[in-house]
Amino acid sequence: TGAFTFDPGFTSTASCESAITFIDGDAGILLHRGYPIDQLAEHGDFLEVCYLLLYGELPTKAQKDDFDRRITHHTMVHEQMSKFFTGFRRDAHPMAVMCGVVGALSAFYHDSTDISDPYQRMIASMRLIAKMPTIAAMAYKYYKGQPFMYPKNDLNFAANFLHMCFAVPCEEYKVNPVLARAMERIFILHADHEQNASTSTVRLAGSSGANPFACIAAGIACLWGPAHGGANEAALTMLAEIGHVDHIPEYIERAKDKNDPFRLMGFGHRVYKNYDPRAKIMQMTAHEVLGELGIKDDPLLDIAMEMEKIALTDEYFIEKKLYPNVDFYSGITLKALGFPTTMFTVLFAVARTVGWIAQWKEMIEDPHQKIGRPRQLYTGSPERDYVPIAKR
Ligand code: CMC
Repeated sequence: TGAFTFDPGFTSTASCESAITFIDGDAGILLHRGYPIDQLAEHGDFLEVCYLLLYGELPTKAQKDDFDRRITHHTMVHEQMSKFFTGFRRDAHPMAVMCGVVGALSAFYHDSTDISDPYQRMIASMRLIAKMPTIAAMAYKYYKGQPFMYPKNDLNFAANFLHMCFAVPCEEYKVNPVLARAMERIFILHADHEQNASTSTVRLAGSSGANPFACIAAGIACLWGPAHGGANEAALTMLAEIGHVDHIPEYIERAKDKNDPFRLMGFGHRVYKNYDPRAKIMQMTAHEVLGELGIKDDPLLDIAMEMEKIALTDEYFIEKKLYPNVDFYSGITLKALGFPTTMFTVLFAVARTVGWIAQWKEMIEDPHQKIGRPRQLYTGSPERDYVPIAKR
């Protein structure tokens, strides 16, 4: 009953008003608070973009220094949290670890679960942005069987993350500035993307008044899927499976076959019906990283470039407007930086945390905010009488 609009997958439903991110999918445009993503990725640093997403304006020098100082103040996690990691099997997927540990933050930081207090909302935002890289690096170290590395607050956000992942206590570790810049760019490119599945999940969870740590844990769970944040891992696995440029046509044909569930991972987007502007920067970053590391002929990059060339001239992909998305090239870059594929989506979660929290904050501060409660078109049985079990 009821005359509801039926919109599976919400392809034509705006669930909220938002002043944070603008996307024109046909033109391939992505703006944060009005600023084009390519300008932010080229000139900005990640915490500057965080400030912009949270507060609506680029910070002045004084505001930026203050923000950096506040974030670095929160980079450590409660020492007891390390026990959470050791409760997981060594071979646990780091995204499973992230879902659990980030959700557990609400049990450690009771003060900032009070969402009615603007000060506590601000502290919760800072804690989440600051602690996510620490938790992600701990998940990586646990998986590697290496000791956890504490944050180093004289490094910037991206360099500190590389330090926590790749430094070991017994050796000197110097962060390569080219690689740190690439990491920073990856974080900027993934910082926000309006009402994607995980952000909508965070908003829906938050609409009931749930605390921000629980909401972000819900976002992480949603991000994990291969149609969303898991696509970077899936894209790299696919490139490795293809194995050689000669095999590309076979996979292209499989992607076009309606009877084959195979899709080209890292291709297509719900909103972009043009080249994903983030993919262009990601492709350039992949070349920079491989160049810096002296990797001349990366077979996966060769396959990716050739696949892109073939797909962009194929009738099926042209007709369906399927272009490479941000995840097509990020896997190659992350692999070259030294991360195992299981960490790829974790890195996406580290970056997207600011988008999630900025959108959560915007929603909580909206005076017209209501609990999210979609309706349905009921397709089940009409009313009928209960039949005692002996008579069924
Ligand atoms: N390979 C082959 N065919 C595809 C692909 C693909 N990657 N993507 C879409 N199609 C076809 C699909 O079969 C459908 O054909 P038809 O109209 O004949 O049924 C048509 O294009 C439209 O696809 P859809 O699934 O209805 O579109 P959607 O907006 O629901 O899905 C998507 C968008 C991103 C889930 C999808 O393109 C996909 O599965 N891509 C591969 C996974 C991927 O790379 N995801 C990352 C997205 S970007 C980062 C992020 O959001 O986290």
